[in-house]
Amino acid sequence: MLVDLHNHVLPGLDDGPTSELEAMLLIQNAVKNGVTHIVATPHHRNGQFNQDANEIKNSIHVLNSLLQEREIPVTILSGMEVHLHGEFMEELETEILTLADSMKYILIEFPTQHIPQFTESIFYELQLKGFIPIIAHAEKNTEIRRHPKKLLDLVNKGALVQVTASSVCGENGKELKKFALKLCQHQMVHFIASDAHDVKKRPFLIQQAYLVIQRKLGNEMVKYYQRNANHVVDGVEFVTLPPRLVETV
Ligand SMILES: [Fe+2]
Repeated sequence: MLVDLHNHVLPGLDDGPTSELEAMLLIQNAVKNGVTHIVATPHHRNGQFNQDANEIKNSIHVLNSLLQEREIPVTILSGMEVHLHGEFMEELETEILTLADSMKYILIEFPTQHIPQFTESIFYELQLKGFIPIIAHAEKNTEIRRHPKKLLDLVNKGALVQVTASSVCGENGKELKKFALKLCQHQMVHFIASDAHDVKKRPFLIQQAYLVIQRKLGNEMVKYYQRNANHVVDGVEFVTLPPRLVETV
């Protein structure tokens, strides 16, 4: 089982594929990367896209039927990439989908430039209710890059962290590669995921990213990230490696 926890493979819902054909090409790209379970995470509340949970589920149902018909060995599971906003807790029960129906793990996106003031209180409330927030593409946030200790604080309080496969591979520039790997090295990362949007510009790159991790940090870390993602799909809690402070880069 190889899980990808963050991607935009559903057609016509956000800035991912615009047609079923494009979606199938992107899914085949995932299969070539060895992915067996795709947790689809369309943007929600990012100022541009708002998703309806039922619409996501219907789209996944259609795609899974197509994949079965064509005997393509991959399963799509439901999720969302929720932009952190003030009404997060009010929407929790009615609008927000947890990853892989885990009823536990929620993929949360920060604005690009900063960490919102209310992050800590929302994360705290979420955790009181038994949810575990996963910070999407942490390496892309400017405030986190300037003040990695702020990420460390959130991790120490129970948040989990995802970095993007393409950043690990260097596709998003040297600075992001260096910072993503530093976060990995300092055990502040729990998942590598693709954030794939389309085959040409933002493909899966999962296999390539795991090769980089293997070379830089060893095979045990590759297994750790893969195991963690499996636990999310299984909806169970797991023990994480203790984080260590990263100096500013
Ligand atoms: Fe995303």
